[in-house]
Amino acid sequence: MIGRLNHVAIAVPDLNAAISLYRDTLGAKVNPPQDEPDHGVTVVFIDLPNTKIELLYPLGEDSPIKGFLEKNPSGGIHHICYEVEDILAARDHLAASGARVLGTGEPKIGAHGKPVLFLHPKDFTGTLVELEQV
Ligand code: CO
Repeated sequence: MIGRLNHVAIAVPDLNAAISLYRDTLGAKVNPPQDEPDHGVTVVFIDLPNTKIELLYPLGEDSPIKGFLEKNPSGGIHHICYEVEDILAARDHLAASGARVLGTGEPKIGAHGKPVLFLHPKDFTGTLVELEQV
């Protein structure tokens, strides 16, 4: 059901420092920051030859990243995103398997303008999983 690894998301406490780290120290192609008010984050995509890195920085007072950064003050891997062809079919299959889909269960539009869902980390070996329809 799942396809390619679309991205690995890393929550960061200092966005400019993280941009400089990936652009200058690691020599990666870093795209400009995008504010995602619906998701409470500012995101920066880094293009790698086989996948992307998504830097996440809190946006707004009730950003979902805030609590994560309180527990992980130097930042850390926040989620991984797998591609699926049909997100509603994937959701229904997962729900039937007993896996928990976060939120209302209805896909939201993610940072690439495509429908996304998040799956409960306790059902996926301690990893928050994002599904993105491609
Ligand atoms: Co993501």
